Amino acid sequence: MDPGETDDAYALLAKGELIVHARALQAAAELGLGDLLADGPRTAGALAEAAGCEPGALRRLLGLLAGDGVVARAGGDRFALTRAGGPLRSNHPASVRSVLAMDGAVAPLVIGATGHTLATGEPAFPQVMGRDFYDHLDARPEQGEVFDGAMEDLTRVVAPGLLAVSGLSGTERIVDVGGGNGTLLAEILWAHPGAEGLLLETPRVAEAARIRLREQGLSGRCRAVPGDFFDHVPEEGDIYLLKWVLHNWPDEDALRILRSCRRAMAPGARLLVIESVVPDGDGPHPSRAMDLAMLVLSGGRERTRDEYAALFGRAGLRLESFREADARYGVLEAVPEQVTGPRPTTPG
Ligand SMILES: C[S@@+](CC[C@H](N)C(=O)[O-])C[C@H]1O[C@@H](n2cnc3c(N)ncnc32)[C@H](O)[C@@H]1O
Repeated sequence: MDPGETDDAYALLAKGELIVHARALQAAAELGLGDLLADGPRTAGALAEAAGCEPGALRRLLGLLAGDGVVARAGGDRFALTRAGGPLRSNHPASVRSVLAMDGAVAPLVIGATGHTLATGEPAFPQVMGRDFYDHLDARPEQGEVFDGAMEDLTRVVAPGLLAVSGLSGTERIVDVGGGNGTLLAEILWAHPGAEGLLLETPRVAEAARIRLREQGLSGRCRAVPGDFFDHVPEEGDIYLLKWVLHNWPDEDALRILRSCRRAMAPGARLLVIESVVPDGDGPHPSRAMDLAMLVLSGGRERTRDEYAALFGRAGLRLESFREADARYGVLEAVPEQVTGPRPTTPG
């Protein structure tokens, strides 16, 4: 055998093993290892006791995490969190602990059922869990809270980049459609004291957002209302936000959401869609893993800029620009196509 062929085989095996590395990271997040190491190095034994683990097993997990640069040996049996592992801490400014913990709760079950999706083209989540993803979060509010917390953490990480390219003047009325627990809207309102906000969410999440916005002293200029973005989106916005919403849905459902927004939008209103846009070509990009994850989870998909433009066109919107916020996410800005006659009023 040509030595290059062995290298090729090992390279593929290493990619296949990534699932073990991912699971180790998720377990570290679930166990709170980042928080347990926040005040400095600890022995594997002390960590095992604090995390409720069998010491030998935890030591082996730490060995894998050390190889991946998440922790480092600090002499003997002591381990420290590295700078790269820092976002495992709950109080890190760019914490992703809850995101990784949520992945740990969902991914092994759902990704494990990828075979069902490949055979049928259908999402595996309803097959495995007995109901759609968001129905599941409503039926299991404790898991809903974990998911909302993960969205909150991830939003904090991307918010500075998004704000920098959002093009807001600062005095707009902003409607965040499917806005989660209000983290992005709060960041925008703090950055723009002259802006007002309205958040539309499912009843469970709208109530959580209402409480949070009040606790943050924003209820004077921001409301959270329950509703269904497939049916109706409030009409009072200058700016409509759809962040990480469209990728959850197949085209026909994404179109219904866009049409609800379009019906609500007055001439001059703008829609900002925040997503991980698939680049042209086949180069590596985080959207590629998320695309398969969305298919398996909910039948959703990641889209190219042209695919978004086509979807917008079918909803009576025109893509005006795409601005990258960071290496993962960007802002697609769309405006209503000029129509002659009255605005459409019937759901379609
Ligand atoms: C992936 S999360 C994104 C949340 C938020 N935009 C963010 O970026 O953090 C999608 C959100 O859509 C909400 N959602 C799902 N179905 C909905 C519906 N029919 N009407 C309104 N919101 C809905 C979910 O509750 C969830 O918070």
